[in-house]
Amino acid sequence: MIAGIIKRRLHRDICRDPVLHGFVLNLYLNGEEYPHRIDDYFPVWAVPDGHLLSAMQSHMQDEDKHVVLYRKAIKKIEQPIVEIPLPEVYNEIIRSYTKDSFRIDRQDSADDRTLKLAGFFAHLHFLEKRIARSLEFHLDGCSSAVSDYPEKVVEIVFGDEQHHVSYTREAVFHLLPAERAKKVLADHRRAEARANLDFSSQQLSRLTKDYSDRFPRATRTIYRYAGELLEWGLHYA
Ligand SMILES: [Fe+2]
Ligand SMILES: [Fe+2]
Repeated sequence: MIAGIIKRRLHRDICRDPVLHGFVLNLYLNGEEYPHRIDDYFPVWAVPDGHLLSAMQSHMQDEDKHVVLYRKAIKKIEQPIVEIPLPEVYNEIIRSYTKDSFRIDRQDSADDRTLKLAGFFAHLHFLEKRIARSLEFHLDGCSSAVSDYPEKVVEIVFGDEQHHVSYTREAVFHLLPAERAKKVLADHRRAEARANLDFSSQQLSRLTKDYSDRFPRATRTIYRYAGELLEWGLHYA
C-alpha cells in the first residue's frame, strides 16, 4: 500500500521532467531491445507446436513494435537514445539470479529442449508481469509529461504486455506436466523477485544521486530511503 503510493508519486515526478522521463523510457527501451543483443531469446527453431510457434512469433513482433514506439516517444520529449550496458539491463539481471540456463543447444534431447523452452517462458512470464505492473504506474504518471505521445505509447505497450503475461504462463503448463510446471514457475518467480530488488535499488539510487536536484525536495529523501530499503531487502530478507 505505502509502496504503491511511493511508486505512483515517483512515476509522476519522473514523467513531469523530460530528462528523468527519458532516463526511464530508455530503461524500458533497453529491455525491449535485449532479444537482439543476445542469441538465445525466442528460440523459434526449437518450438515444436504450431500454436505456440505463432504465439511466440507474434510476441517477437510486438516487442519490435515496442522498440519503435519507445524510440519515437524518447525523441518526442527531445531526449537522447541511450544504450545501457548489458549487465544493467533488467532481463540480464534476472538471468544472473536464474539457476538453470534456458539456452537450447541443437544437440539437446527432446526432453531437455522442452524443459528449457518451458524455463524460457517462465522467465518471460515474470519479466512481463513486472513490466506490466511498472507500466501501470508509469501510465498514470504520463499524464503529467511534456508531450502526450509517451502516454499513447505506454498504453499500447501495456495492453500487449498483459497478453504476454498470460500466454507465457499458459505455455509453461502446455509444455510440462502441472507439478513440474509449478516448480519451474516457482524457480523463476524467486529469481525475478531478487532481481527486482537489485535492479530497483540500483536505479533508484542512481536517480536520487545523479539527478537529485530534479526531484522535489519533499520526495527526494523518501525515494532515497526507499532505495536503501530495497537494498536492505536484497541482502537481508
Ligand atoms: Fe514489450
Ligand atoms: Fe512483452
